[in-house]
Amino acid sequence: MGSREATGGYDPSGIDLEAWTILEGQLEATIPNYDRVNKLMTFGQDKRWRRNVRNHATPGMKVLEVGCGPGSFAEDLVGLDVTCLDPSPEMLKVAKKRVDASRASRGESPAVYVEAIAESIPLPDDTFDMVFCLFSFRDFQDKRKGLEEIYRVLKPGGRLVICDAGKANWLHGLAGRIWMATAVQLLARIVTKDKDHPWKGLANTYSHYGTNGYYRTMIKEVGYQDVQGRLLWPFAMASRFRGTKPKQ
Ligand SMILES: C[S@@+](CC[C@H](N)C(=O)[O-])C[C@H]1O[C@@H](n2cnc3c(N)ncnc32)[C@H](O)[C@@H]1O
Repeated sequence: MGSREATGGYDPSGIDLEAWTILEGQLEATIPNYDRVNKLMTFGQDKRWRRNVRNHATPGMKVLEVGCGPGSFAEDLVGLDVTCLDPSPEMLKVAKKRVDASRASRGESPAVYVEAIAESIPLPDDTFDMVFCLFSFRDFQDKRKGLEEIYRVLKPGGRLVICDAGKANWLHGLAGRIWMATAVQLLARIVTKDKDHPWKGLANTYSHYGTNGYYRTMIKEVGYQDVQGRLLWPFAMASRFRGTKPKQ
C-alpha cells in the first residue's frame, strides 16, 4: 500500500485534508442520485446490509450514526433515540428533512443533528449505547482517530457497528476496483445522464481502502473487545465490523 503522497492524498489509514475536501464535494454532488445508484451498483443489497446493521439495536437505545449522509440509514431507525452526525451541512439538511418526516409519521420526536467529523465529536464521553457507521468509515480523514472518538462517546459496554465496501484481501480488492471502475461508472453515467458524474472520483476511496484484517487490527488496538470484521454474503461486496467498549 503506497504512501499518501504517492496516491493523491489517500492511504488505508486516512485521507489528507486537501483530498478529503474534494471528496466531500463529490459526495454532496451524489445527493440527488445517491439511493438509486447505490441500489443498482449493489444489486439492491444495500437495503439488506442496512437492515442487518439496524438489527443490532434494541428499542429505547441511544444511538449515533457517524456520517449519516442524506439519511438513507437513519430514517429507518425505529423506536430509538437518534443522533445523526455528518461534516456536510448539505447532507444534514437533506437528512433532517427525511429522517424527521419518517420519525413524525411514527409519532417519534425529531432526531438530533450534529455537524462534525468523526475525528472530533463535540459530544460528551460515555453517551451512546451504539454507534453505527454506514459507508462513511472509508471517508474518514484519520480512521484511528475516528475510532478513538467513537470509543470515547460510547458507554462502557456499548457497541460499534461499521458497514462499508468489502475488501477481504488484495485479490478481492482488485475485483472490487474493476467493478468500481467499470460497471459502477456506467450505471452512474446512465442514472445521472452526465459523463462527469461524482462517482468518477469516489472510486479512489475504495482503491486506497485497507483490508478487513487491517481494520480489525486497528479496531482492537484502539481498545475495543470482541472485534469481528468479515464480508457479508452472498455478494461479498460489503464488510461489517463490530467491536464493544469494555465495561471497565
Ligand atoms: C456515502 S455517505 C454515507 C451515507 C449514509 N450513512 C448511508 O448509509 O448511506 C458518506 C458520508 O460520510 C460523511 N463523512 C465524510 N468524512 C467524514 C468524517 N471524517 N467523519 C464523519 N463523516 C464523514 C460524508 O459527508 C457523507 O455524508
